[in-house]
Amino acid sequence: MDKKKKEGRYQRLFSQIEKLMATCEHEPSRRATIIALLHAKMDYFFWTGYYLLKDGELLVDHYQGPVACMRLVKDKGVCWAAINQEKTLVVQDVHDFPDHIACDSRSNSEVVVPLRTKDGEIYGVLDVDSADKNSFDEIDAEYLEKILNLRWI
Ligand code: SME
Repeated sequence: MDKKKKEGRYQRLFSQIEKLMATCEHEPSRRATIIALLHAKMDYFFWTGYYLLKDGELLVDHYQGPVACMRLVKDKGVCWAAINQEKTLVVQDVHDFPDHIACDSRSNSEVVVPLRTKDGEIYGVLDVDSADKNSFDEIDAEYLEKILNLRWI
């Protein structure tokens, strides 16, 4: 998708999510709604969901798309790398990422954004996979971070 089109789509999506988030403080409902909207509106999102930290593990939370891995082996793959490096990671070709965890062999590129509380504590990640290579760029990173910043906790 060209950058202009992508940016326009994210802008509309952000306003819609912002309005919805103002209507509900319950965190699981908020997470589920963000996933539903992102997955429905962004046609290159093949798998869209969260992994949350629980007792030192990453366990799957709300998601849409093919069935995912329930838990991710500690310190392996893109999600753990984003947690350990405390930053958003954009991977143009997951097959080039040394210990990428393939929950579905159709995934080819990926973006992972850490989830933070208002105090900055990381409690999980938003993970989006695409079936095409090179799907994600700085626009996805910027808007996904902005959407996740609409937090209540
Ligand atoms: N690819 C991720 C695992 C989660 S799936 O993409 C849904 C990773 O390497 O951490």
